[in-house]
Amino acid sequence: MSAEPVLTISGLNVDYGTDAGAVHALRDIDLTLNRGEVLGLAGESGSGKSTLAYAVTRLLSPPGVITGGEVHYHRPGGDRVDILSLAPRRLRAFRWQELSIVFQGAMNSLNPVHTVHSQLTDVLAAHRPELRKRQRTERAVELLGLVGISADRLAAYPHQLSGGMRQRVMIAMALALEPEIVIMDEPTTALDVVMQRQILRRLVQLRRQLDFSVVFITHDISLLIEFSDRIAIMYGGRIVEQAGAAEIYRDPRHPYSDGLLHSFPALHGPRRELTGIPGSPPHLSAMPTGCAFHPRCGKAFDPCAGRVPLLAPPADGPGRAVACHLHS
Ligand SMILES: Nc1ncnc2c1ncn2[C@@H]1O[C@H](COP(=O)(O)OP(=O)(O)OP(=O)(O)O)[C@@H](O)[C@H]1O
Ligand SMILES: [Mg+2]
Repeated sequence: MSAEPVLTISGLNVDYGTDAGAVHALRDIDLTLNRGEVLGLAGESGSGKSTLAYAVTRLLSPPGVITGGEVHYHRPGGDRVDILSLAPRRLRAFRWQELSIVFQGAMNSLNPVHTVHSQLTDVLAAHRPELRKRQRTERAVELLGLVGISADRLAAYPHQLSGGMRQRVMIAMALALEPEIVIMDEPTTALDVVMQRQILRRLVQLRRQLDFSVVFITHDISLLIEFSDRIAIMYGGRIVEQAGAAEIYRDPRHPYSDGLLHSFPALHGPRRELTGIPGSPPHLSAMPTGCAFHPRCGKAFDPCAGRVPLLAPPADGPGRAVACHLHS
């Protein structure tokens, strides 16, 4: 796989609120999505995963504010687009045609009074005005086919579909204009495990077939290990570790990554003891000093409460990065 970047995030900071009570939800996020890859983003509830998805797509609403950093999209030809300064009109086109997003809980965001057909063809009508009505319907059938739904469901209303089908319709909508990047925020958490894996397997196949890149967000790291190429792990608004999926699984370097791996049953391979992580994630308004994880970390030592560890490659592992004093 080529390591050509399609999305680069550097030094991204997001606050909620602007007055004295503002809290830092994202701190110094550096992250690259490479063309054609599935990048998994994991972390407990409140770690900032959705905030990151909203910020990079400029969908963050008040009191959320981007206080610093850059986000660039790299077009296939090499053209670089500065997402944070796109004008509103360009942004709308960009959002469906070059990058699309499936939101957390999206399967409930289909319009209940419109059929699947009208919701899919509306997207096409808005962005592909050159298509005739019949062509739009043909494309809608094709899109449903991609996610394994037969054409006879086109006339269905959302309530006539199962949760898994509604979720697949949302994915079909996200793929409607053949974007280069698809961001999926917990696209399957409301579904049972079998359905989750079925949808993700389909998505990974489609990614090869249609050649797009995916940012896949979930708190379930075992799903990520199976379906991602690389994984970034977030804690308290920062990325604490980033590595290939197999590397993280075999040899997590951050004690938090290790804890996450022991919080979910492994789908394959040797069974791990489920020990979980003691304590609970920090509140933004009371973020611990130094490494935010130190109060819950069994390996914390002198520097951990005093200094924030920088995300950097460990001495023996170029190509991955960890923010932990044990490795600096
Ligand atoms: N509108 C808001 N106003 C204030 N704080 C917010 C707002 N939205 C999110 N936050 C805070 O920002 C932090 C990150 O939230 P975010 O939703 O990004 O986390 P997440 O990792 O997506 O969690 P989950 O796994 O529950 O979806 C949390 O502490 C949350 O309470
Ligand atoms: Mg979220």
